[in-house]
Amino acid sequence: MAEKKRLLTGLQSSGQLHIGNYFGALKPFLTTYEEYESFLMIADYHALTSLKDPAALKQNIIDVVKDYMAVGVDPTKAVIFQQSRVQEHTELAWIFDCLVTVPFLELGHAYKDKVAKGLEANAGLFTYPMLMAADILLYDTDVVPVGEDQRQHIEYAREAAAKFNNAYGQTFKEPQEKIQKEIAIVPGTDGKKMSKSYGNTIPLFGSKEEITKAVMSIVTDSSGERPENVYAIHKLFRPQVEHEELDAAYNKLRGSYKTLKELLIEDIENVIAPMREKRNSISDEDVKKVIEEGSAKAKAIASAKMADVRNKVGVSI
Ligand code: ADP
Ligand code: TRP
Repeated sequence: MAEKKRLLTGLQSSGQLHIGNYFGALKPFLTTYEEYESFLMIADYHALTSLKDPAALKQNIIDVVKDYMAVGVDPTKAVIFQQSRVQEHTELAWIFDCLVTVPFLELGHAYKDKVAKGLEANAGLFTYPMLMAADILLYDTDVVPVGEDQRQHIEYAREAAAKFNNAYGQTFKEPQEKIQKEIAIVPGTDGKKMSKSYGNTIPLFGSKEEITKAVMSIVTDSSGERPENVYAIHKLFRPQVEHEELDAAYNKLRGSYKTLKELLIEDIENVIAPMREKRNSISDEDVKKVIEEGSAKAKAIASAKMADVRNKVGVSI
């Protein structure tokens, strides 16, 4: 059998996850990661460009791993590791910083957006794409699953690889982004895109009470037709083969919004309850052990690569 291709993605903790994150990011990852040799990296040094609260950063590192494990990512089938524990990432980022120009980095979206808002960007945010390039290139990564907003960063990683290879000889593989296009945008309780910044979310690991409250707040129109906002979310919680059945229920219960919402709560509970239970069963200690073991594996690969890099740039004497 041909060797599996290598996949790597970086996670920034985004606080409490919502069902939009689940259907848009976690579930797609879950259904494909075993086809690859997968690396899941907690991008804690990237988080440091904006997060200056040590207690919150600590908690976020643990939480994001718990979230992925709770939805079903098996730490024996993916290398889950912490960026800051593998110092080769920051080391290689420095070498890339010395290869790219200031005008090239000035085109980076994260930096440009900050400046456009009249805010002062720190130097870490400015060189952010080179740390991300190092994350990816250290592992000879083939594919990088990311959201559309990260497309430019993968282009930067390819550029960093090409610049290094050009200067010092073939060393890095040029990675490809994997952007899930077919994934629909999950609507929020107000019908707009579900997003933590709009306050229209249904929490993924919320209690039954929290979920009930969110579902009951879904905006319904009063035209007597199918409550589309409720239906659009409901469909996500039923497999394709059950959609006809769901349509029939909505026809039969036309106008009975409360009953339809109760049905939705039941269906959400069926999907979420086992994940919530799993999440509660994972201790901080379990997570730390996973991170420690994963980081040791990542370190072994990264340090071998960096030995070659150090030699090529001329610092190994
Ligand atoms: P938010 O909009 O709540 O801030 P993030 O930007 O942190 O969410 O998104 C994290 C991941 O979840 C991204 O991969 C993004 O594409 C996905 N995602 C977020 N909201 C939705 C949504 N409403 N529908 C589908 N995917 C989503
Ligand atoms: N910048 C990414 C984000 O904000 C996170 C990230 C860091 C990443 N390093 C990475 C993603 C390497 C993919 C590969 O979502």
